[in-house]
Amino acid sequence: MSPKKKKVEELNKDSESEGKERYQTVRGMHDILPREEAYWKTIREIGYEISELHDFSFIETPILEPAGLFEEGIGEATDIVEKEMFSFKTRGGEVVVLRPEGTAPVMRSYIQNHLGHFASPLRVFYEGPMFRYERPQAGRYRQFHQWGFEIIGDGDPFYDVQIILVTINFLTALGIKGLKLKINTVGCRVCRPTYRKRLLQYYKTEKRGMCKDCIRRYDKNPLRLLDCKEKECEEIRKGAPIILDNLCQNCNAHFKETLELVESNNIDYEPNPHLVRGLDYYSRTVFEIASEGNPKLALAGGGRYDYLGEILGGRMIPAVGVSLGLERIIEYMKKENIAPRKRERKNVFFVAVGDEAKKRSLRLINTMRLASIRVLESVGKQSIKNQLRSADKTKSKLALILGQRECFEDSIILRNMESGEQETIPIEKMIEEIKKRLR
Ligand code: HAM
Repeated sequence: MSPKKKKVEELNKDSESEGKERYQTVRGMHDILPREEAYWKTIREIGYEISELHDFSFIETPILEPAGLFEEGIGEATDIVEKEMFSFKTRGGEVVVLRPEGTAPVMRSYIQNHLGHFASPLRVFYEGPMFRYERPQAGRYRQFHQWGFEIIGDGDPFYDVQIILVTINFLTALGIKGLKLKINTVGCRVCRPTYRKRLLQYYKTEKRGMCKDCIRRYDKNPLRLLDCKEKECEEIRKGAPIILDNLCQNCNAHFKETLELVESNNIDYEPNPHLVRGLDYYSRTVFEIASEGNPKLALAGGGRYDYLGEILGGRMIPAVGVSLGLERIIEYMKKENIAPRKRERKNVFFVAVGDEAKKRSLRLINTMRLASIRVLESVGKQSIKNQLRSADKTKSKLALILGQRECFEDSIILRNMESGEQETIPIEKMIEEIKKRLR
């Protein structure tokens, strides 16, 4: 290569690396930036309001849990456990994972802390990050946030539908319309084995046309054959036996009663006999909720998990719950132009001119904040013009101007940012006067 060409190549290399930061977020993970604050605040505020309104108490479990909790709880033959867990050994040799979901940890906590003694059923909600090593794509991340509701300690369909209703009420309060519930039952220990056998019989003759994953699922987790998204498998599924024809009497009654309650609550629903969901702990009711704007992307999913307590070493504890995917909800809101909650920002903007004023400003600002007045400032910008420009930009109602003269006279200027009117008031009256004007 000629020296000239080499130089050009080196230059190109430099310009390529320019703008590339040394460190970036890990693939599939993202920062939540200040410009998204309004959405996250809205979701969390409404989440807390809805949780309280529906009588759910707060619970928070650690992000790290023993790997076995999910291997046993979610099931070894699920995608999550087989290939999506972030697991590692601690210095003490314990194998832990970043929690991929919140239900197994809540049940662990229920057993560990004897929460059944305090309320029956126990109604809890949680919010926080979950981690799954999935292929990143729209609406699917490796770190994402869920809001979850769990009702533990009662097997009545009444609670299945309460869980569905709290989810719909949450999404509706956010302004999401056209919600559709997809619902199914996956039976119980009595009827599922027979159904499983029938499924295996059917798929045995179809094996040649199935995708690679389904061939594996055939041996390990045949129910999951039903929700494979590959074209060839969707075709095969059309002839598969459905669980509704194989339910035991109790599961049949449970599903019937659940659907009756769904109907009497005017929930727009569609029974989907192929909905099995990706977690093995479910029994009886399973469901997903999506909106008509993107019916394929579930905003929430859940179901009943009556055996999870027993699997985790306790006893049989009937339970039902749901989790909502917060990133998906926010993306949906943005796409459909659903605005986050508007706040009337009653703030004041502090303008300090000169060194003495700047020195005094921090104490004055803090006094106002202690009196619950929202104060913004850009004291570092020095010039009064720039500071007032910021006051304007932030739509502050009042600007407080402290200059050398005001410092000397122990006074401060109040400027009405709408009318431009200004008046000078004694500093000891500052709080009282501001509150009067902000009212
Ligand atoms: P899940 O269906 O795995 O259920 O997740 C619930 C919701 O979390 C999904 O509907 C979706 O909105 C969101 N979600 C799941 N994976 C991702 C991802 N990789 N990126 C972005 N969002 C995602 C559960 O987790 C169960 N624990 C639900 C439950 C609670 N069942 C009973 N109680």
